[in-house]
Amino acid sequence: MKVGICGLGTVGGGTFNVLQRNAVEIARRAGRGIEVAQIAARHLNPACNLGDTPVTEDVFAVVNNPEIDIIVELIGGYGVAREVVLQAIANGKHVVTANKALIAVHGNEIFAAASAKGVMVAFEASVAGGIPIIKAVREGLAANQINWLAGIINGTGNFILTEMRDKGRTFDDVLAEAQALGYAEADPTFDVEGIDAAHKLTILASIAFGIPLQFDKAYTEGISKLTTADVAYAEAFGYRIKHLGVARRTSEGVELRVHPTLIPADRLIANVHGVMNAVMVHGDAVGSTLYYGAGAGAEPTASSVVADIIDVVRTLTTDPNNRVPHLAFQANALSDLPVLPVGQVETAYYLRIQAKDRPGVLAKVATILSERGINIESILQKEAEEQDGLVPIILMTHRVREQKMNDAIAALEALDDIAGPLMRIRVEQLN
Ligand code: HSE
Repeated sequence: MKVGICGLGTVGGGTFNVLQRNAVEIARRAGRGIEVAQIAARHLNPACNLGDTPVTEDVFAVVNNPEIDIIVELIGGYGVAREVVLQAIANGKHVVTANKALIAVHGNEIFAAASAKGVMVAFEASVAGGIPIIKAVREGLAANQINWLAGIINGTGNFILTEMRDKGRTFDDVLAEAQALGYAEADPTFDVEGIDAAHKLTILASIAFGIPLQFDKAYTEGISKLTTADVAYAEAFGYRIKHLGVARRTSEGVELRVHPTLIPADRLIANVHGVMNAVMVHGDAVGSTLYYGAGAGAEPTASSVVADIIDVVRTLTTDPNNRVPHLAFQANALSDLPVLPVGQVETAYYLRIQAKDRPGVLAKVATILSERGINIESILQKEAEEQDGLVPIILMTHRVREQKMNDAIAALEALDDIAGPLMRIRVEQLN
């Protein structure tokens, strides 16, 4: 089989190297040899010894090369990558991509085009790098009604949170290292603001619940406002702060949200550090399952890309109607269950309030919460801070609908006794 690689950056280079190094083992699995026939690259990757493999700067020379059976799109983004994928499909070629942004935003269109042409679009590497999570959810858990999933699905963000907590390093310093290691997106705000995680969560929710891809409905909140004080208070309550993507099926619709989250420190997923990713998936038959591995980087991501190439090769002669559907459920059996606005989501909360040090403040805070039916689970008040004389009050609440909490937060922030905006972090028990 002849493969054309489009894009020779971190993942493209890793894919080329894995295909070369493990060629014999891969052929034993696929049933035939897999040869990189041509590469499109703007710059050569010094990590690759390309030998005689032809390289062009014209990506469409690869896409339109009649000798090539499978196009591996590793350019990233929604621009040229979308044209490359749609042109490859129009040319009757199968596609393997690691591009979560493209699948999350244009996947419905791409899968429809691929189905019409009877070709495959495989995208294992688009979510959680080297973890075979698409395969696990789409095939391994196919017996289940999946109720919820929650994951650490951005390696850069987890690397930053881990280094800040463990080594006291600054946000910018760790981010620069993540960029140098090839973990971060071309625009690193995608990592720290949760957009990259929302792309991946959108894909996971679709294959878990059988709904069309709806990235525009995902709620996204980043990690840049977290403070070391919040990390320490969370620990005092027995929790860790992780940047989590959560998708949950409720009777009213699907929750689809990425935000910093307090999770109990003794959950396995709370102990996922550095660039590692982990996804918990809960099915009605299997219960809770957990998938763990490197979520970014050249060869971990190449591991998923090459597995997809092998999958495509193995099923080439299968009747297109009998292949595993792109979104796990048959295309004509997708559900119209709505994605819920974040106001309708229900979670518990961590609140940190900076209050003036005078009598009655705590009583006012408690009254505002109780008037809205918000039940306080635990409370911690620290001594006044030296620099501003303000008293940090940290509250953990029971579960409440977000709209109600927003209303309470607005009332709290309107009090004279409260300084500045308060910090709110959602809490999930994951049980
Ligand atoms: N920027 C992404 C991450 C790369 O850090 O997880 C893998 O998708």
